[in-house]
Amino acid sequence: MRHFTSVTQLGDLKDAFAAARYVKENPFADQALGKNRTLLLVFFNNSLRTRLSTQKAGLNLGMNVIVLDVNQGAWKLETERGVIMDGDKSEHLLEAIPVMGSYCDIIGVRSFARFENKADDYNEVILNQFIKYSGKPVFSMEAATRHPLQTFADMITIEEYKTKARPKVVMTWAPHPKALPQAVPNSFAEGLNMTDYEFVIANPEGYDLAPEFVGDAKVTHDQDEALRGADFVYAKNWSVADDAHYGEVLNRDRSWTVTTEKMALTNDAFFMHCLPVRRNMIVSDDVIESPRSLVIPEAANRVVSAQTVLKEILKSL
Ligand code: CP
Repeated sequence: MRHFTSVTQLGDLKDAFAAARYVKENPFADQALGKNRTLLLVFFNNSLRTRLSTQKAGLNLGMNVIVLDVNQGAWKLETERGVIMDGDKSEHLLEAIPVMGSYCDIIGVRSFARFENKADDYNEVILNQFIKYSGKPVFSMEAATRHPLQTFADMITIEEYKTKARPKVVMTWAPHPKALPQAVPNSFAEGLNMTDYEFVIANPEGYDLAPEFVGDAKVTHDQDEALRGADFVYAKNWSVADDAHYGEVLNRDRSWTVTTEKMALTNDAFFMHCLPVRRNMIVSDDVIESPRSLVIPEAANRVVSAQTVLKEILKSL
């Protein structure tokens, strides 16, 4: 593996889960792989879990880790080619990227959807410039359309907690006050479509994800119907994905909040969310605090997913 931008690049899932299990049981076994290698993590957006778990993964592999917050302490970056740079942006991404590449062996990039232009977001303009101009392997720490390290951690968690070969997994939209990208739900759908689990997406009308991510999943606008018999409930908000209202918030209906009453429809399902989560918008206090809530082990598995992927990239150097 050289670049990692989509969970589909994991290849055979059985092998990927076995590799993750090995990393989890032997976190320091591959320190020689990362010795004298430098990992650079570049953040265009805030983070708690991705920042800490990916640093930890690199350290577990014996790497040196450096972190750049582009919007705090670095020069403000221009990202568009052809712009006359007479404003507040002092440096162009086209110089900054190869410079960053010259200081490291592997680059992780977090660059969310900007909601200015759907084509730019869905073409992953920033992430692809890092791949094109850094000269180094690049992995996504959440880009405009996907969050593959999150999805891999989610899938590892389901694998650990499932009690049947083909669990019913329901990803449900839930309300949020702000416009959030589609990266997490897109990626989760992409990953679940690689499994043979029963996979259902529940969202209000107008909130269907792009067809290339929905794939063969069943989509319903009836949350209660989706939740009946679910073994895992994965809650997430996303903004509108279609061209006409891209990035808009058309619905804040709190009847979609995941509550104890909603969870009572399920097969005593586990509750999952990638975090950070808005309590009593996305999920009620009692559900997220219940013994069936997996949000903490799910977040802990972010180290495992990042380390498994980084190990594969290191092997390719
Ligand atoms: N789930 C996730 O990516 O968390 P952060 O945004 O805090 O990194």
